[in-house]
Amino acid sequence: MKVGVPRERADGERRVALVPETVKKLSGAGSQVVVERGAGEGSYASDQQYEAAGATLGSADDALGADIVVKVAKPATGEIAKLRAGAILITTLQPLTNHDLVRALAEAKVTSLSMDAIPRVTRAQPMDSLSSQSNIAGYKAVLNAAAALPKFFPMLTTAAGTVTPARVFVIGAGVAGLQAIATARRLGAVVEAFDTRPVVKEQVESLGAKFIEIDLGKSGEGQGGYARELTPEEQQKQRELMAERVAAADVVITTALVPGRKAPVLITADVIRKMRPGSVIVDLAAEMGGNAELTKPGEVTVVDGIRLDGTLNLPSSVSAHASQLYSRNVASLLGLVLKDGKTVLDENDEIIKGALITRDGEIVHGPTKAAMAPKP
Ligand code: NAI
Repeated sequence: MKVGVPRERADGERRVALVPETVKKLSGAGSQVVVERGAGEGSYASDQQYEAAGATLGSADDALGADIVVKVAKPATGEIAKLRAGAILITTLQPLTNHDLVRALAEAKVTSLSMDAIPRVTRAQPMDSLSSQSNIAGYKAVLNAAAALPKFFPMLTTAAGTVTPARVFVIGAGVAGLQAIATARRLGAVVEAFDTRPVVKEQVESLGAKFIEIDLGKSGEGQGGYARELTPEEQQKQRELMAERVAAADVVITTALVPGRKAPVLITADVIRKMRPGSVIVDLAAEMGGNAELTKPGEVTVVDGIRLDGTLNLPSSVSAHASQLYSRNVASLLGLVLKDGKTVLDENDEIIKGALITRDGEIVHGPTKAAMAPKP
């Protein structure tokens, strides 16, 4: 069984789907791994390290022509054309919103498993790339904010007197938000946080942050441990009740997402303008449009002295560890797909069923089919 690792070609993507450490394990277990020359460059894994781990080096065509192709980002049209009919593709497809891509994979008769569709059940934790990468994004968001803020994060007592600590407000306390809280606390900031799922209050407090109580009347918890989409009235109420906390903050890190939906706009332009000049918003929801009204996805802009950071794909900027963790996630999923050197896709397994998007020319993923169905 040949496993192919092509070099990622998306703009700004420095990660790689398998690092030498994992290649060694797969080769040891009998898989033949073909790595495109230079695939690990952005993550500081050299061709020599891959060869030493047991991989064969090859061209993009060699890697994309394997029985199982593993990637980080969604494949470009040119890459899909090089996948063999019947091959298995494991990558991050965001199938609920990338409908043309899903159609193209079905037409190419590629069997695709999407890392971001793996159900968040306990058994799937080692393959949970949403968590491994969000964790990195939350960490790096705080570092970027701290680097840009014209203030210290910690309280400092110096011979010239005392400076007060920075105030950080984290909106959305899922995986990225909790890591942002932990990182900001480690740097010495005073941290507040809010999430529409009340269950996270305890986790926020255990990290030494204050949970802001905002009564929206009803829990924001939806299915599968995720948030539900708030009604327009609830969203309006949340914006109003949070405005004061945003205005008082030096740094706001926003991470609020609802699966398969555009990010809710939680900070309006007039609230942004109420922040002190020099303050920073890092909008981790930028990929889905942004939680701040003035975020420009993929750009850093300054509005009336307030810095809005809509940088995309922060995990790529921590490429070595992001690739290492993603690689372990992929290897863990491969452990379910590869049995005695053969591929087995058991749809009775909830993990396979949840992650399987296309098979035998068909779109088989229920939630994707529902999202693609014409709206009445
Ligand atoms: P996410 O990336 O979909 O959303 C980020 C956060 O934004 C969530 O905490 C969500 O509640 C919050 N949010 C949504 N709308 C909001 C609003 N209007 N205002 C404020 N916050 C809002 O979620 P993520 O980080 O992927 O994880 C969500 C949950 O998934 C976890 O907390 C946990 O319950 C579950 N999970 C389970 C795992 C498992 O193995 N059992 C592993 C990882 C996550």
